[in-house]
Amino acid sequence: MRVLLTGHQGYLGTVMAPVLAAAGHEVVGLDAGLFADCVLGPAPADPPGRRVDLRDVTADHVAGVDAVIHLAALSNDPLGSLAPELTYDINHHASVRLARLARDAGVQRFLYASTCSVYGAAGGDALVAEDAPLRPVTPYAESKVRVEDDLHALADGDFSPVYMRNATAFGFSPRLRADIVLNNLVGHALLSGEVLVLSDGTPWRPLVHAADIARAFAAALVAPREAVHDRAFNIGSEVNNVTVAEIAGQVAEAVPGSEVVITGENGADPRSYRVDFSRFRAAVPGFDCEWTVKRGALELADAYRAHGLTREAFERRFTRLAVLRAASDAGTVDDTLRWRR
Ligand SMILES: NC(=O)c1ccc[n+]([C@@H]2O[C@H](COP(=O)([O-])OP(=O)(O)OC[C@H]3O[C@@H](n4cnc5c(N)ncnc54)[C@H](O)[C@@H]3O)[C@@H](O)[C@H]2O)c1
Repeated sequence: MRVLLTGHQGYLGTVMAPVLAAAGHEVVGLDAGLFADCVLGPAPADPPGRRVDLRDVTADHVAGVDAVIHLAALSNDPLGSLAPELTYDINHHASVRLARLARDAGVQRFLYASTCSVYGAAGGDALVAEDAPLRPVTPYAESKVRVEDDLHALADGDFSPVYMRNATAFGFSPRLRADIVLNNLVGHALLSGEVLVLSDGTPWRPLVHAADIARAFAAALVAPREAVHDRAFNIGSEVNNVTVAEIAGQVAEAVPGSEVVITGENGADPRSYRVDFSRFRAAVPGFDCEWTVKRGALELADAYRAHGLTREAFERRFTRLAVLRAASDAGTVDDTLRWRR
């Protein structure tokens, strides 16, 4: 298939592009390139791609494409809360526009990178499945719910949107993100000897390795239409339904000499949910996640050491909010996060 991969120069896109290519697909990228230079280790070999803002996509960008994998977004709660109206413009309106253009161009499958954050304040210890009530607690998560709703309205006999509700990712990507929990805790542990937890450690956080997300998207791309058409899927594995305190414990084991410090200074976190991932396994027989949190912590520690992660890079280059703030302060992007020409 010829696959348009938006967000191909992000954390997940950089891991997903080679997985899709290895499966025999022709990958074409589309990304504003906001974090294209935020690389740890050797520069990745990107697929051919266009530097385009999602808000400026035209029919030309989806012409001749068989499937769209849509990852491009302001990708976490702090970014969403920085500028909620921009989050709705980019994550919601521009995503739905892209989907309409894709449908009009005859694209048959549209895999949308949603998130388990849509369950938000589910709370409790019960497993939440895809039909659980959605209780987003941030503009970021709300934007994902709105896109799912609008894509559902576009689904028809020829156009199959699929809502891939990813757990929180972890693991090494050349375009690292240090602002997601496991990647962050391993970095802290290596750089300071402390596995620093600012919440009280009790919230549940389902995790999934970036490579397992990539494999799940690759599988959903070629799954029979009736198995995935207009359906939501939680992407992850029950073994990686862990509390923040448990994650911290795994990190301390992976980084010898480090110690867990739970400050609780950020108070209770309303985002807490344990997730049931069985629907995707049933829809795509044979698929299962390969990575555990423990193995991911060891992989990250090795990669950080091998590539000489510094505190400066950890706090600035690999923290999405810090990168955008710096670009805005330097005047390289305007206040709508578009590149200044
Ligand atoms: N990483 C996770 O833990 C996780 C979990 C669940 C869902 N997701 C979703 O997966 C997707 C990818 O996440 P990621 O971790 O790779 O994030 P990321 O921030 O590393 O990548 C997002 C990419 O989108 C691009 N982008 C942002 N605004 C754009 C715009 N206006 N026009 C064009 N490109 C734009 C950025 O340049 C970047 O390359 C996002 O939609 C995110 O919400 C991620």
